[in-house]
Amino acid sequence: MSDFKVKDLSLAGEGRLLVEWASRHMPVLHRIAERFEREKPLNGLTVGACLHVTKETAVLVEALTAGGAEVALCGSNPLSTQDEVAAALAESGVSVFAWRGETTEEYYWCVNKVIDYAPAITLDDGADLVSTIHGSRGGALETVKGGTEETTTGVIRLRAMEKDGALKYPIIAVNDAYTKYLFDNRYGTGQSSIDGILRATNVLLAGKRFVVCGYGWCGRGLALRARGMGANVIVTEVSPLRALEAVMDGFQVMPLRKAAEVGDIFVTVTGNIRVIRKEHMLKMKDNVIIANTGHFNVEVSIPDLEEIASSKRTIRPNLEEYALNDGRKVFLLAEGRLVNLASAEGHPSEVMDMSFSNQALCVEHIAKNPKMKPRVYSVPREIDELVARLKLDGMGIEIDEMTEEQKGYITSWKAGTI
Ligand SMILES: NC(=O)c1ccc[n+]([C@@H]2O[C@H](COP(=O)([O-])OP(=O)(O)OC[C@H]3O[C@@H](n4cnc5c(N)ncnc54)[C@H](O)[C@@H]3O)[C@@H](O)[C@H]2O)c1
Repeated sequence: MSDFKVKDLSLAGEGRLLVEWASRHMPVLHRIAERFEREKPLNGLTVGACLHVTKETAVLVEALTAGGAEVALCGSNPLSTQDEVAAALAESGVSVFAWRGETTEEYYWCVNKVIDYAPAITLDDGADLVSTIHGSRGGALETVKGGTEETTTGVIRLRAMEKDGALKYPIIAVNDAYTKYLFDNRYGTGQSSIDGILRATNVLLAGKRFVVCGYGWCGRGLALRARGMGANVIVTEVSPLRALEAVMDGFQVMPLRKAAEVGDIFVTVTGNIRVIRKEHMLKMKDNVIIANTGHFNVEVSIPDLEEIASSKRTIRPNLEEYALNDGRKVFLLAEGRLVNLASAEGHPSEVMDMSFSNQALCVEHIAKNPKMKPRVYSVPREIDELVARLKLDGMGIEIDEMTEEQKGYITSWKAGTI
């Protein structure tokens, strides 16, 4: 068995059942794994992955292994590892370094363990592997050929590196595939964030004023699902385009300073820093619930909350009560980290099927194209379309095909209006 560090190896049996359950809902990745098994396109490659260690990630890791890769894995968030799944992966021979509740020091120890394997390809969710390799572990640049990035925030960081000429190896922005952001960010984050809030609090959403900060792909999904549960949704935005879209979608839009006075539940999903701050918290009603489902635990200013609170206690896992000086209580979920991963199980398998199929096919693309430049690349359109086709196929849905006449018409400039 390879080197690993997980919470408890005896959880492997439970973890295996979870991975099997996820796999049943991931038909596209399943088909890719079958082909990988036959063709072995990743033979001899070491893949270093820094992803949320969930049952769906295990299905991805097993697809890559089927393709011939050796995989070293660490978590991309200290609170999101499913310990049973980490144990199952360790038992099956994957070099996994992850457990739920890592300290910051332990988190980076795990990231560095993965880099010790000298990966040829990196898989990131938030760019921590890439930034560590570009920082303290520059030696790893000798072996690395390319990488992929799963999420919006990571892609923003990588594009900034590219712009500054700092990026030293090519990255495919999996996040920007249509079959990723449209489903994963919107439907996945929408449903699983509601799930996380309910698991932590079990409050009734119907009739509550539910404030969504940020109306991006994730925010749209969250607002949609909260409305579906009967909440009165208020959107806060900084982009006039997104704000206008939220208005036309039928949501109330107002600045956070106003929403702070009326909201019952606040969820940040902006990818930005210090969105909910002291000046907002001081205006909030008694008993409000605050959560974050954007990438880092910086969207809600926890230092501000600590500063204005006279005491704090844990009510139950992922539910922290902060008592303010005037007696009001503010409840913070999952320490301000991603509520859908820390307090629930992350995205449902069906959406991760598409995101991780893009990941698997992009790893193959990098392996087959060793001459890519150190840039941030889009997912090739053929990959995006293949994932959508396989997904429809897996759902038993057929679609039409253009006739030859239609193909000619749609690409011609000669046909007029009459
Ligand atoms: N929870 C998850 O599982 C999950 C999944 C995918 C992405 N994410 C993360 O969620 C975040 C949002 O992703 P996205 O794809 O929706 O991004 P996006 O860029 O489409 O949307 C972000 C929105 O937030 C708005 N915004 C920025 N600063 C703001 C502020 N101070 N107040 C109000 N709005 C503000 C922007 O104008 C934009 O419309 C990212 O950090 C991403 O990494 C989380």
